[in-house]
Amino acid sequence: MIIVSSMTDAAGNVAWITGAGSGVGRATAVALGALGWRVVLSGRRADALAGTARLVREAGGTADELPFDVGSDDPGTVIPTIGDRLDALVLAAGLNHPQRAWADQGMADFEAIVQTNLLGVVRAVDASLPALRSASGVVVVVSSIAGWRPSPGAGVAYSASKTALAPVVRTINEQEAGSGVRATHLCPGDIDSDFLQQRPSVPDAAARAVMLSPNDVADAAVYAITAPPHVRIDELVLSPVSQR
Ligand SMILES: NC(=O)c1ccc[n+]([C@@H]2O[C@H](COP(=O)([O-])OP(=O)(O)OC[C@H]3O[C@@H](n4cnc5c(N)ncnc54)[C@H](OP(=O)(O)O)[C@@H]3O)[C@@H](O)[C@H]2O)c1
Repeated sequence: MIIVSSMTDAAGNVAWITGAGSGVGRATAVALGALGWRVVLSGRRADALAGTARLVREAGGTADELPFDVGSDDPGTVIPTIGDRLDALVLAAGLNHPQRAWADQGMADFEAIVQTNLLGVVRAVDASLPALRSASGVVVVVSSIAGWRPSPGAGVAYSASKTALAPVVRTINEQEAGSGVRATHLCPGDIDSDFLQQRPSVPDAAARAVMLSPNDVADAAVYAITAPPHVRIDELVLSPVSQR
């Protein structure tokens, strides 16, 4: 089901955010809302999107809820609804699984992780490029520190899918520079978010207290998005000081 009010605003900036119902996606949506942006919010849970939309509006922005599964839905059906112009595409939807080693991983889970973390990003970028070109827009790919350096605990499928995002971003920047489109490979370390529930051993409150917050990562995303049009932030790695 697609819930849309007015999705275009010629006078303002427009962002499409996947994974917008919680964590980094939600925090980025609220931060852009506070800057007066119209944010189009996607994720699978309509109730979570409604919660983010309320926060965006309270912050002063405009929000549209657009339930969408990056792993299976066709973004080609979404983009015409968003509009001809897209100033920012923030790809925060992500998936992992507690059983993540060769000894215990399942192939169905492996495929779902790749569908979400890699192909979901690729499909959304592919469908969004015409609208991004119209606005010299910025793509923020929320990858992971596991996409930047070996992180054995992150799992086989997660590490493979996130590592593959580096060349996805690099090729966008190589091939789309002429259109003004810029992309950022955003690689955070541990974040205190719902995502931790997918770990084999869920961190306790003390461990979470020293992690990054979703707001920390959203600040980095907004930095890339609001950089002047001649500035491209190719890659950003941020970790909690405590991270080894
Ligand atoms: N937490 C960490 O320690 C950490 C560290 C490094 C990188 N990251 C990355 O940061 C990103 C954001 O994660 P987070 O920490 O903010 O965790 P989060 O709160 O769990 O956010 C992940 C979001 O992705 C959405 N999502 C999952 N599968 C989806 C799908 N198929 N289609 C659309 N949306 C989907 C979820 O919403 P629905 O379930 O409603 O769809 C959820 O809102 C992820 O890409 C993750 O890999 C996280």
